[in-house]
Amino acid sequence: MVCFRLAPVPGSGLLLLCLVLGAVSSYALELNLTDSENATCLYAKWQMNFTIRYETTDKHNKTVTISDLGPATYSGSSCGDDQNGPKIAVQFGSGFSWIVNFTEEKSFYSIDSISFSYNTNDNTTFPDAKEKGVFIVSDHVAFRVPLNDIFRCNSLLTLGKNDVVQHYWDVHVQAFVQNGTVSTKEFLCDKDKTLTTVLPIVPTTVPSPTTTPSPKEKPEVGSYSVVNSNGTCLLATMGLQLNITHDKVASVININPNTTNFTGSCHPQTALLRLSSSSIKYLDFVFAVKNENRFYLKEVNVSMYLVNGSVFSIANNNLSYWDAPLGSSYMCNKEQTVSVSGAFQINTFDLRVQPFNVMEGKYSTAQECSLDDDTILIPIIVGAGLSGLIIVIVIAYLIGRRKSYAGYQTL
Ligand SMILES: *[C@@H]1O[C@H](CO)[C@@H](O)[C@H](O)[C@H]1NC(C)=O
Ligand SMILES: *[C@@H]1O[C@H](CO)[C@@H](O)[C@H](O)[C@H]1NC(C)=O
Ligand SMILES: *[C@@H]1O[C@H](CO)[C@@H](O)[C@H](O)[C@H]1NC(C)=O
Ligand SMILES: *[C@@H]1O[C@H](CO)[C@@H](O)[C@H](O)[C@H]1NC(C)=O
Ligand SMILES: *[C@@H]1O[C@H](CO)[C@@H](O)[C@H](O)[C@H]1NC(C)=O
Ligand SMILES: *[C@@H]1O[C@H](CO)[C@@H](O)[C@H](O)[C@H]1NC(C)=O
Ligand SMILES: *[C@@H]1O[C@H](CO)[C@@H](O)[C@H](O)[C@H]1NC(C)=O
Ligand SMILES: *[C@@H]1O[C@H](CO)[C@@H](O)[C@H](O)[C@H]1NC(C)=O
Ligand SMILES: *[C@@H]1O[C@H](CO)[C@@H](O)[C@H](O)[C@H]1NC(C)=O
Repeated sequence: MVCFRLAPVPGSGLLLLCLVLGAVSSYALELNLTDSENATCLYAKWQMNFTIRYETTDKHNKTVTISDLGPATYSGSSCGDDQNGPKIAVQFGSGFSWIVNFTEEKSFYSIDSISFSYNTNDNTTFPDAKEKGVFIVSDHVAFRVPLNDIFRCNSLLTLGKNDVVQHYWDVHVQAFVQNGTVSTKEFLCDKDKTLTTVLPIVPTTVPSPTTTPSPKEKPEVGSYSVVNSNGTCLLATMGLQLNITHDKVASVININPNTTNFTGSCHPQTALLRLSSSSIKYLDFVFAVKNENRFYLKEVNVSMYLVNGSVFSIANNNLSYWDAPLGSSYMCNKEQTVSVSGAFQINTFDLRVQPFNVMEGKYSTAQECSLDDDTILIPIIVGAGLSGLIIVIVIAYLIGRRKSYAGYQTL
């Protein structure tokens, strides 16, 4: 174990850097950054190698691999302060520099971007490079990790293409370490998740109960609305569950209305409801008018952050759900599925929407989905003045039904 005492970094006090150099055959890098109170603020351990392609003086392309990083220094690494986020800076070999920075947002932190620079003036590594100088490649990675979790990826992660390909494996990193204690709760990259399902770490003949996915609980119902200069113009009340299928694995996500933002717009022929949260960049519901007297859900556009940092986006503008007459609302209490694509479905619960003709911020008469009523579609008339009449009709209907049942029994 080697420790460096670094010059004080403004705003972050005295830094003490300790790095454990692994066995000579392994080039694992390890960094335990501490703040002015000697409390760990950032911990990282990882392995990496690089393949760099460059053009030679005789107009050929050559590739060079940097896998033995040799002794590394970590100057410039910092816990961060009010202005700057934490970062890890590593220098190795002849003029190689590698920097990753982190950002924090609500209950997550992100591995923001990685920048790697190399100097082709180094004649040992790049003997015949046509262009001499410092080259920098930057990749925005945006891995999102829950705060207080350590990110782990034993699998190989590949970044970049063309001139510089970067490989990372055996990655363990936690930024914004709380109370100086590195978490034991691991947040796995997608590739490690599939690894554990394919190859269970503890081989056992008895199937583990955790391998059977527990039925996901019902999502909480959220109330969403859009307001324009004339007041509320769109109303939606619903519980939403997203079902994303990736590599034949379905992930089911319940939308938490408490942490979901909403906005939208209303026009004579279309209306938009847009939901967003820390994991959903946007989820758009676009409603349209058809035949001048009905509305329906025409389009869903979604863009979400996946756990491995990539973005999942799907749009379908040829849908036909939630169809009801203009001037009424559409209602469906039972679970219904909006199939946006083979890979993306939305399960709705206790749904009620009215994208047009909202009066005084309240829902109009509801048209119920066929799922709620197994005979025919009956509009439920919501109106205090008519409720007496409805009760009479309902009683008459029930008596009528009893009679017909009784009739069948006597046969
Ligand atoms: C931090 O640790 C160093 C050596 O391990 C010690 O000299 C120093 O007093 C400690 N500082 C604090 C604030 O505990
Ligand atoms: C870089 O590391 C990966 C993962 O261990 C390995 O598969 C690859 O062969 C390495 N590349 C070189 C050139 O050493
Ligand atoms: C070398 O790589 C560049 C892209 O970086 C490509 O445009 C060029 O055709 C390559 N040259 C040869 C000789 O393969
Ligand atoms: C992280 O680094 C990238 C490129 O090196 C830079 O563009 C970005 O602004 C940095 N982010 C923060 C939060 O410092
Ligand atoms: C950090 O310490 C505070 C106060 O001791 C405690 O309330 C909090 O839960 C701790 N956080 C973690 C992540 O351990
Ligand atoms: C999620 O989608 C997959 C594939 O379409 C399906 O098999 C699965 O039953 C769905 N799960 C839920 C909870 O809707
Ligand atoms: C949302 O907030 C309500 C009231 O504050 C709370 O009862 C409920 O448990 C919260 N739901 C979730 C999913 O966090
Ligand atoms: C939905 O996505 C499509 C394709 O990406 C785009 O053309 C369309 O404008 C989007 N619609 C909305 C309402 O954002
Ligand atoms: C993230 O996972 C998806 C699906 O597994 C894959 O298509 C994508 O390439 C991955 N992105 C990264 C940066 O590894």
